[in-house]
Amino acid sequence: MGGDNRRVMVTGALGQIGSELVPHLQLLYGTQNVLATDIKEPSGSYSSSYERLDVLNVAELRGLVKGYDIDVVYHLAAILSATGEMRPDLAWDVNINGFRNVLEMARESLIDKIFHPSSIAAFGTETPRLNTPQDTVLTPRTIYGVTKVTGELLGKYFFEKFGVDVRGIRLPGVISNVAPPGGGTTDYAVEIFYEAIERGSYECFLRPDTTLPMIYMPDCLKAFQDLMDAPSETLKHRTSYNLSSLSFNPAELAAEIMKHKPEFTITYKPDFRQEIADSWPMSIDDSCARAEWGWSPDYDLGAMVDDMCFVLAARHESGKI
Ligand code: NAD
Ligand code: SER
Repeated sequence: MGGDNRRVMVTGALGQIGSELVPHLQLLYGTQNVLATDIKEPSGSYSSSYERLDVLNVAELRGLVKGYDIDVVYHLAAILSATGEMRPDLAWDVNINGFRNVLEMARESLIDKIFHPSSIAAFGTETPRLNTPQDTVLTPRTIYGVTKVTGELLGKYFFEKFGVDVRGIRLPGVISNVAPPGGGTTDYAVEIFYEAIERGSYECFLRPDTTLPMIYMPDCLKAFQDLMDAPSETLKHRTSYNLSSLSFNPAELAAEIMKHKPEFTITYKPDFRQEIADSWPMSIDDSCARAEWGWSPDYDLGAMVDDMCFVLAARHESGKI
């Protein structure tokens, strides 16, 4: 993937993942070859080519793809699980029709490769929750999960029917320290760090024993790159790879943070997101990702917490948060 002059577009680029994926892609492809887009406007200075784009507007999407001669799209524009339950029509529209518009660009041969993330939300209460298999029951309980399963199948259909090279991962909850998470059920695992640094306490919206799969952003970016670099012929689960990195619950995360901030306290007040979390796996079998494109994470819980605390404490001391 690195070292060539492919031109890359990122949709939903101002979100949690896009905010770190764009600079990562700039290093790989050159700043001039990366176009960031989002329905929002960036705040302050923004260090990439930027165009406002609503992915539901297919004419604008086609105009940008043609105008910038785009080869590859990282399609991140989406409505996440908690927001989706409050706005199910919007979640369906953005997550399905937005993706369909990007797929059409490939069917028209305007682009030749798409990355489209799925999620652990593709699973449901009938799915085995421990070491969840790659090929298993997909009966999600949220509209977000329904759109993720549909997206996996739509991508697979476009590959088999039209030869469109779509690739995707069932991402665990992503932990990061650049942009805030965008309305998901795993958001607590990011919020807790900011509250620990700024206030010394956190009220968690999940129960202390709610174990969920998670991943730290550097591993998330590595997974995107490794999957996109893999030879097409090795990919048997192309649009829906299980991915495992970390699995922990709020009590275990709080205990790890207390090693850095012994005075930190946590309280629990579960809300509607508890039911969503209870329908998701606790741990994931990612043997297909390991076998088919060499996936292997770098961060364990201790290393992730060390890094998050270090980065956020430095930013707090310099008055940036
Ligand atoms: P986010 O909510 O932080 O960012 C999504 C971005 O999409 C936002 O900046 C938003 O403005 C933009 N957007 C919304 N509607 C749009 C539209 N109509 N047109 C253009 N842009 C629009 O989400 P994220 O965490 O960066 O997630 C990116 C992708 O990864 C999504 O597909 C999400 O489902 C998936 N994912 C994320 C996580 C996670 O924990 N962050 C986990 C699993 C899967
Ligand atoms: N982090 C995401 C969410 O909670 C999982 O896809 O919605």
